[in-house]
Amino acid sequence: MSTVIELNQVKFTWPRSDKPVLDIAELVIDKGQHLFIQGESGCGKTSLLNLLSGITEPDSGNLRILDQPLTALSPHQRDRFRADHLGVIFQQFNLLPYLNVIENVTLPFYFSDRRRHKVKDTHDAAINILRELEITSGLFEKDVLDLSVGQQQRVAVARALVGNPELVIADEPTSALDSKNRDTFLRLLFELSTEHDSTLIFVSHDDHLSSFFEHSINLAETNRAYQGEAV
Ligand SMILES: Nc1ncnc2c1ncn2[C@@H]1O[C@H](COP(=O)(O)OP(=O)(O)OP(=O)(O)O)[C@@H](O)[C@H]1O
Ligand SMILES: [Mg+2]
Repeated sequence: MSTVIELNQVKFTWPRSDKPVLDIAELVIDKGQHLFIQGESGCGKTSLLNLLSGITEPDSGNLRILDQPLTALSPHQRDRFRADHLGVIFQQFNLLPYLNVIENVTLPFYFSDRRRHKVKDTHDAAINILRELEITSGLFEKDVLDLSVGQQQRVAVARALVGNPELVIADEPTSALDSKNRDTFLRLLFELSTEHDSTLIFVSHDDHLSSFFEHSINLAETNRAYQGEAV
């Protein structure tokens, strides 16, 4: 089985901070794995996902994604790499306001020729995935700001999965959903990532969700820089 993520002795410090927020000895994630990363608020989950998606870079240590050492790439090359290989569902969605639903979901195709060439027709690919996520055609032309939060969340998922990226990273994507919609959403996310043969990294502070996953880690324990909330 091939490895999608290999992280060794990685430390990361936010600019203007005097101590690392992350210090992780090892993290290895195999192709096709669905990994749940749990941990209380502030333990560094989003900071870790930013490293894995090449938005930030480690102070030290080794980080390989899909056999590419990320530390060997410039910030611009990392942006390119992310557009080509990763689907990221951000905690705050990061949908583009004043673009409609379809325009948001087709955005990855403008940033990546590789991803565009994976589909026959970009518009059809967007529609198919939106339908799978139960976003109906009446919403397709709507400005994303005019959707409910749960609908925006599903549009963010569609944008992450369109064009079948090898690695899908999801930061608290169920926080705005009630428990019934949350379960449906998780099933769908698993189905889609299995169908597309994507590796999935799913982050939440809600440890109840770990029962859905074969593999899980607790970042509050794995992250040696995290000492718990200061009292
Ligand atoms: N952009 C930033 N600049 C400086 N410090 C930051 C930044 N983002 C986060 N931090 C700090 O890093 C630590 C970890 O934050 P992070 O956002 O990774 O936590 P989290 O586990 O994702 O929390 P939550 O569950 O609330 O989303 C916090 O102490 C936070 O103050
Ligand atoms: Mg977070």
